[in-house]
Amino acid sequence: MKLDRLIAKHHSLGRSEAHRLIAARQVRVDGAVCMDNQQPVDRFMRVELGTEVIQPAERALYFMLHKPTGVVSATVDAEYQTVVDLIDDPDKQSLHIAGRLDRASTGLLLLTNDGRWSKQFMNAESKVPKVYVVETLEPIPQEAVAAFAQGFYFATEDITTLPATLEILAEKRARITLHEGRHHQIKRMLGRVGCLVSSLYRESIGSLALPENLAPGKWRALTESERLRCLS
Ligand code: URA
Repeated sequence: MKLDRLIAKHHSLGRSEAHRLIAARQVRVDGAVCMDNQQPVDRFMRVELGTEVIQPAERALYFMLHKPTGVVSATVDAEYQTVVDLIDDPDKQSLHIAGRLDRASTGLLLLTNDGRWSKQFMNAESKVPKVYVVETLEPIPQEAVAAFAQGFYFATEDITTLPATLEILAEKRARITLHEGRHHQIKRMLGRVGCLVSSLYRESIGSLALPENLAPGKWRALTESERLRCLS
């Protein structure tokens, strides 16, 4: 929302009265006088009119978690421990998961309450790479490399998967780069080339890799530069 609209909505002041107050240096955004009627304001910004707080700032949360196996990527679950259960933060109820991992899968998981940020790397159009290391029960056939690059048709969703990179690291081990995140996508793709997945680990999202010193089950807030690295 733009600043003048937020002010105008308040006490139904009207747009021209909002402009007058903004021009009279009565409005502060995040503690600083703002004279731009069109300043975009989101729910994470504090807006004051004179001495009155029109909108308190919500805390924006950006967390990474090293997801251990056996924990579900959900906010609540009747049966299993959830990834949110592992987080100790007073505002954790506002979190959503930016890119789920299956219960058995491990690795980098991002949680946030900022939907505008998570959409930027979750959208298939954004082409942000997500990198996984998988182990399989069967040897991975060489033909799988071309098949992954070409894409697989999934009738359930009526879609063809985007070109993905499969790098065979050992007979039963590969690194896979996806630019989208469909339900059980890697298991289903590997299933098409005759391989069952025995373990699946997400190494990175964009250019943010899971730090080596973050043990399974541990979490921490992202730094500003880490937050930006998820987007490219
Ligand atoms: N693909 C899968 O099949 N499972 C995951 O957890 C992530 C990607």
